[in-house]
Amino acid sequence: MKFQIITLFPEMFEGVFAHSMLFKAQDKGLAQFQLINLRDFGQGPRKTVDDSPYGGGDGMLLKVEPLHKAIDFAKNSNPDAKVILMTPRGQKYMQSQAREFSTESGLIIVCGRYEGYDERVAQFIDQSVSIGNYVLTGGEIPAMVLVDSVTRLIPGVLGGATSAEIESFADDITIEYPQYTRPEEYEGLKVPEVLLSGNHQAVESWRSQQSQLITKQLNS
Ligand code: ADE
Repeated sequence: MKFQIITLFPEMFEGVFAHSMLFKAQDKGLAQFQLINLRDFGQGPRKTVDDSPYGGGDGMLLKVEPLHKAIDFAKNSNPDAKVILMTPRGQKYMQSQAREFSTESGLIIVCGRYEGYDERVAQFIDQSVSIGNYVLTGGEIPAMVLVDSVTRLIPGVLGGATSAEIESFADDITIEYPQYTRPEEYEGLKVPEVLLSGNHQAVESWRSQQSQLITKQLNS
């Protein structure tokens, strides 16, 4: 799967892509990341990418033309890719959406910046995505969230059984049960007895109860 990220700050991604699961996914040839600098599509000698809003208002907006050109450039090498715009005005991101994205052959992710973007960019994207009801300074961190959550769902990226069914939010709501590892007791804090019992049925039923309990608490 090829991810192409259109951003004014490509360096922000370098550390994230160079470590852990995202690094391994590239290493195994299961994911490919291309950083596209929006500045390269800027206009005039100063490579301008932003301008003030019509009608007045604070701050600057990303201009439509550089965005359109950068998207076309990305599409050129991957015509079937889905184009996603990261924006707090997008559709709320959930695990089910990550699962859908993980079946695409490619994703072109556009990172918004400044106070926003010229709305006409909507003509050139397939979907806009928000990672939550709060405003970040740009779409870069949201894009990293999306890339991480999608890449780990690509078959073969995680070792062994991905256990997607028992992970938190497999159904967008249910939270995974708590887990413990050695030692059995730490500063008086004990691992729940049932987990040491060797009784698989009892363990399963405890886990299911815990999962339901935590899910209920978090959603009330
Ligand atoms: N850009 C700024 N805030 C954002 C958010 N919450 N989700 C996606 N993109 C954003």
